Amino acid sequence: MAPSGHAVNETGNGFIDGTHSALLRHVHDIREQCVDGSPRAAVIPCFDAFVGEMTVHFGHEELILRASGFAGWEEHAEQHQTLGRQVGRLVDYLRECDVSREFLCTVAGTLDHALSQHEIKHDGAYAALLRASPAPEQGADLIAWTPGFETGVEPIDAQHRELAGLVNELHRLAAGVHDRAEAMVLLERVGHHVRAHFDAEERVMRAASPARCVSHAASHTQMLGQFDAMCGQVASGVVPLEVAVRDFLRFWLMDHILVCDRPHFLVMGLVRPPEAVV
Ligand SMILES: [Fe+2]
Ligand SMILES: [Fe+2]
Ligand SMILES: [Fe+2]
Ligand SMILES: [Fe+2]
Repeated sequence: MAPSGHAVNETGNGFIDGTHSALLRHVHDIREQCVDGSPRAAVIPCFDAFVGEMTVHFGHEELILRASGFAGWEEHAEQHQTLGRQVGRLVDYLRECDVSREFLCTVAGTLDHALSQHEIKHDGAYAALLRASPAPEQGADLIAWTPGFETGVEPIDAQHRELAGLVNELHRLAAGVHDRAEAMVLLERVGHHVRAHFDAEERVMRAASPARCVSHAASHTQMLGQFDAMCGQVASGVVPLEVAVRDFLRFWLMDHILVCDRPHFLVMGLVRPPEAVV
């Protein structure tokens, strides 16, 4: 049972479930602040932070769904957009108008209800798929490299293989009870490697097609934001590192290679077409 009293089913993905719980705790805290009579000026930043946290969650969830092969991920992303617009309008109104304490309480209750309903009704639509895709067995690689990951540009493929290897190593370290500090250092190292990789990839793309490089660099910026947000959630205890690696980071890297990189390299003629991949 969530803190707000709404029963929200688990989706089978620990990262999504952890961030769902954190969001519901957050909105519950805001409701309590409003009921306790906190001044509007003190509560508004909390509403803003909640909207930011919800937006980050939506982006993470959409990426996991896309990388998991959920056919309805685009429709789900539209539901996120609608909910995000509705919530954003409400919070804008609070910021711009001198509303009463009762109205603040009403808005907090509305956000709680809207979010819970989304998690119960819409997020429930993909739960069966995620529950049916088991995590790798203990000791097995989290990301098993296959030729289907290759872009055909050897330096880029080498970096992708290295990143997959680091994520696999991080998965093993994070699962160990005594290796947390070491695992956190490795997570930071993964972040450095990711940044260096994105820079290298943009140099290759810019040389081949400056126009395409602009949109690709924008997707790198978005992915870095998602990676950094995940690190923040781990650091603040919202999600354990082991869960973040297993249920978010592996999808993040697969999405980067298969959804972001391969189609762009293919269009630029730098990648073998899928039928040529053995
Ligand atoms: Fe969600
Ligand atoms: Fe959702
Ligand atoms: Fe890449
Ligand atoms: Fe890329």
